[in-house]
Amino acid sequence: MQCERWSHENIVLMGDAPATAHFSVGSGTKLALESAIALAGYVHTEPTLAAAFHRYEEERRTEVLRLQSAARNSTEWFEHVERYLHLDPVQFNYSLLTRSQRISHENLRARDKAWLESAEMWFEEQATREKPRHSRPPMFTPFRLRDLRLKNRIVVSPMDQYRAIDGAPTDWHLVHYAERAKGGAGLVITEMTCVSPEGRISPGCTGLYAPEHETAWTRIVEFVHAETDAKIGMQLGHSGPKGSTQLGWEKMDAPLTAGNWPVIGPSPIAWSAQSQVPREMTRADMDTVRDQFVGSATMAARAGFDLLELHCAHGYLLSAFITPLTNRRTDAYGGTLLNRMRFPLEIYQAVRAVWPAEKPISMRISATDWVGEEGITPEEAVEIARLLGDAGVDVLNVSAGQTTMRARPVYGRMFQTPFSDRIRNETGMATMAVGNIYEPDHVNSILMAGRADLCCLARPHLADPYWTLHAAAQLGYRGETWPKPYLAGRDQLYRLASRSDAPPMNV
Ligand SMILES: Cc1cc2nc3c(=O)[nH]c(=O)nc-3n(C[C@H](O)[C@H](O)[C@H](O)COP(=O)(O)OP(=O)(O)OC[C@H]3O[C@@H](n4cnc5c(N)ncnc54)[C@H](O)[C@@H]3O)c2cc1C
Ligand SMILES: Cc1cc2nc3c(=O)[nH]c(=O)nc-3n(C[C@H](O)[C@H](O)[C@H](O)COP(=O)(O)O)c2cc1C
Repeated sequence: MQCERWSHENIVLMGDAPATAHFSVGSGTKLALESAIALAGYVHTEPTLAAAFHRYEEERRTEVLRLQSAARNSTEWFEHVERYLHLDPVQFNYSLLTRSQRISHENLRARDKAWLESAEMWFEEQATREKPRHSRPPMFTPFRLRDLRLKNRIVVSPMDQYRAIDGAPTDWHLVHYAERAKGGAGLVITEMTCVSPEGRISPGCTGLYAPEHETAWTRIVEFVHAETDAKIGMQLGHSGPKGSTQLGWEKMDAPLTAGNWPVIGPSPIAWSAQSQVPREMTRADMDTVRDQFVGSATMAARAGFDLLELHCAHGYLLSAFITPLTNRRTDAYGGTLLNRMRFPLEIYQAVRAVWPAEKPISMRISATDWVGEEGITPEEAVEIARLLGDAGVDVLNVSAGQTTMRARPVYGRMFQTPFSDRIRNETGMATMAVGNIYEPDHVNSILMAGRADLCCLARPHLADPYWTLHAAAQLGYRGETWPKPYLAGRDQLYRLASRSDAPPMNV
């Protein structure tokens, strides 16, 4: 609960009167006292009572919102505790302690170092299947999917670079992906790479539908494999109704100013008032797109990619089939969830048949449309996950939203992780969490609590390709491999990080 206004003339509200949070985090007294301290401060520093009340409300409202968000997480945990009953007692305990997402891995270390280290040892043993001699941060434990072995749990999330020429990756892409592979992440996933020219989001999107695309991608894969111990995954997609749009830093999702190409979708529903109305796909269109996915997957296999990810999120073609907001078909591909999943599942089956059996396939989904019952809900996302899991999908990359302009997302640290948590713990599928995960502490907490198996970081990797190596130095962990030419830089970084007066590192 939160009042719209916290003061009236010379009356001001404090404590439980202006705002409350659910009691499962038990912070009402703290909140009330901190509010009282802040108010007292502003009454002395601000020129008028009205100004003091204004500053007080502005500052405390944010704190209250943070606590309410934590309380929501905590309440959700208790209300669905059966979701976690299968966890080992160590992980169950950790999950309980970190349920609000306000208490993190390092907070727990400060409170009980010995217990946290024993929990890390447990995690290590689960990851390696060997009795460990030392603990290490969970983010640096290995992970296996089919025959793919990842050295750690950090994934460079797919990020469109809008720098391709006629679908072909350029030197930009070589440098971009090479740098991120050198930076320590266990897995680098490419940007959404399109299965046909019309399937591109923008004229700058990469493709995998022409021989020169395969050649360029092969060069990138070979560099990553030869020079680093990172693995590289290919994200394949088709833009559907969100195709033929401007570059990311121009008008995102808006049609091109000239040279638009026709777009297709499950139903003739435009993304926005300005967008093209997609042509409703016929069965023949579906066959064509399915074959294009197969063609691209075959090229990706030849190029040597270690993992394939199908982009079924964010309102692009396969996602547009899944959500009822853009799928109004009355045939076998619309209506029930099973029908709406039919085409994405067909694509998956066709691609799985040509993708090497020893290599995994991931699917990225939007676990909510952020519009309530009218669209995909987190509950329905569990059903989606079950269907994909039963079909043999190895890992779900759990994103959210971007399926409608009407979405009202609730942002915050790790804001999409609860969807991954729910899917992983209700279906037993391996998941990747993504969305505003930016500190090593976030990653360690998510992994240790069993909320995901891998963590995808997007924007942090734009700001710092070496995010993982820097995180290792910050945590004093020496097990990560640095490129040999950079060893002198590593040594200096660790020396500086170990000094007690070292400023916090940019991770
Ligand atoms: C069962 C329970 C367990 C809790 N556990 C915790 C916990 O573990 N940790 C934590 O931090 N918080 C906890 N809380 C929350 C915490 O108690 C409240 O958030 C906190 O007391 C709010 O302080 P307050 O001063 O705003 O309101 P209150 O403490 O409710 O004070 C309001 C006072 O105003 C008086 N009053 C009401 N009307 C009038 C009137 N007309 N005239 C004169 N006086 C009036 C009331 O009698 C009361 O004494 C718990 C709350 C409950 C109910
Ligand atoms: C520049 C940019 C480009 C992106 N392109 C893609 C993409 O091609 N495919 C995809 O699935 N997600 C894409 N995303 C979404 C990210 O993978 C990620 O889900 C999102 O940014 C949230 O993670 P973050 O908070 O770590 O940035 C993109 C994000 C950014 C910032």
